[in-house]
Amino acid sequence: TQVEDFQVTNEPVLEYLKGSAERKTLETALNKYKNDCQDIPIVVGNEEIRKGDVKYQVMPFDHSKKIAKYYWANADVVQKAINTSIEARKDWEAQPISEKIKVFMKAADLVSGKYRMELNAATMLGQGKTIVQAEIDAAAELADFYRFNAYFAKELMKYQPLSPTPSVSVNTFRHRGIEGFVASISPFNFTAIGGNLASAPTIMGNVVIWKPSDTALLANYITFKLMREAGFPPGVINFVPADGPVFGNTICSSPHLAGVNFTGSVATFQHLWKQIAENLESYHNFPRLVGECGGKNYHFVHPSAHVQSVVNGTIRSAFEFGGQKCSACSRMFVPESLWDQIREGLLETRKQLKLDSPLEYDTFLSAVIDEKAFNRIKGYIDYAKMSSNLEVIGGGNCDNSKGYYIEPAIIVAKDPKDRIMQEEIFGPVLTVYVYSDKQLEEALTLASDTAPFGLTGAIFASDEKFIAQATEFLKMSAGNFYINDKSTGSVVGQQPFGGGRVSGTNDKAGGPHCLLRWTSPQVIKETF
Ligand code: SER
Repeated sequence: TQVEDFQVTNEPVLEYLKGSAERKTLETALNKYKNDCQDIPIVVGNEEIRKGDVKYQVMPFDHSKKIAKYYWANADVVQKAINTSIEARKDWEAQPISEKIKVFMKAADLVSGKYRMELNAATMLGQGKTIVQAEIDAAAELADFYRFNAYFAKELMKYQPLSPTPSVSVNTFRHRGIEGFVASISPFNFTAIGGNLASAPTIMGNVVIWKPSDTALLANYITFKLMREAGFPPGVINFVPADGPVFGNTICSSPHLAGVNFTGSVATFQHLWKQIAENLESYHNFPRLVGECGGKNYHFVHPSAHVQSVVNGTIRSAFEFGGQKCSACSRMFVPESLWDQIREGLLETRKQLKLDSPLEYDTFLSAVIDEKAFNRIKGYIDYAKMSSNLEVIGGGNCDNSKGYYIEPAIIVAKDPKDRIMQEEIFGPVLTVYVYSDKQLEEALTLASDTAPFGLTGAIFASDEKFIAQATEFLKMSAGNFYINDKSTGSVVGQQPFGGGRVSGTNDKAGGPHCLLRWTSPQVIKETF
């Protein structure tokens, strides 16, 4: 196939300064969605379905306010989505890549332009992100995913890896979508991840049943609508909110399951994997399992580090969006020689962080996503308050009377293997272990090996020799490794994202390789 060449660049991030045109249009979108409860259907093919258990999405920072009413698909509706997607598959798979690229590029333009403020408003109201956090996610990263996946797909199609068999035959290589359907299951914490999980497999010719997160429903629905407007044909992506087990059981018992594209908890991904293993003989293909499952990410500080950049980077990584990024720093290793300065810096900066409604422009972090998250995070803080091995040195007050508010907490652990240093908390909680400068290698071993995850990690140092050694020593501990920068904020096309160990299958969203999981290539030998 001939594919026209093109380049892409990352979507610029807007600043929303006081008096700016973008702030005005954002306010209009916020007013539209905050004062009205949207009625969101299940969408299968061209059909809008409003039946099944009725649910509501509320604002996490003001949980008496409903922003969306939606429906949980029952098993029959999930099955109907499967059948519909399979019918849509043949035509979509047959479309030339140039057509699919056009649809993806159009979706990117709709994110960047027409729907930018709606996506941001829905992400702020529904997921509690500040405008700074919404803009880098629902505007920039989402547009980037569409554009870069289009670009990566084009590059893959161009690449012809085969040698000819001289004077006997011509060998060609082509990508095909996998027969069946892909189930995409997305989390609340990034609107962009939802859009990416739902769309990435389709550029290689697959069709998708998308189960969005209940707590990102409005932003995900706007994403779905703009994809339809961009030209994704009906049935190629189906929007199917559902109860997790009902959805999981139905997709796993279909012989047409071609793959699962998942971001969420370790436990859920493991459960799906086991369920699929149990049904293995029933499938037409070996389902592809792609999962990104969180982390227990570290900032490791060397005695040669620049203290101010450690403090700034750690505060941002641990507390932006309430620590609800899978990349967020939650374990910090600090040498005794720098602890006094770093402690003071962290506590001082923490005090200045405004915890409030995300609609205030100077808010740094807002409420956590829901009651369940609030209870889990509060549980860790209460445990720290009670444990003699742990000292809460700042923050940690919790109040869920209006929204699910948790003050950013800084905890010092005497035991580096305490469970608070090993388990993912997914909230605004930073745990620090102070190591003796003489025990650098032991401390590196703790950073590398005491938590079962391998997602992100950062080292802060100016000593070049240490940087080189630690980079090798910590090699397997992080799929995304940062030197003198915080552990969050990967950019599509620049730092493709993902990690190994229990953090996932490490297929690197936002990079060229993840698309290879969604192709079933064919080699053709034509003999003369
Ligand atoms: N990609 C995001 C980050 O790096 C997390 O999902 O912060």
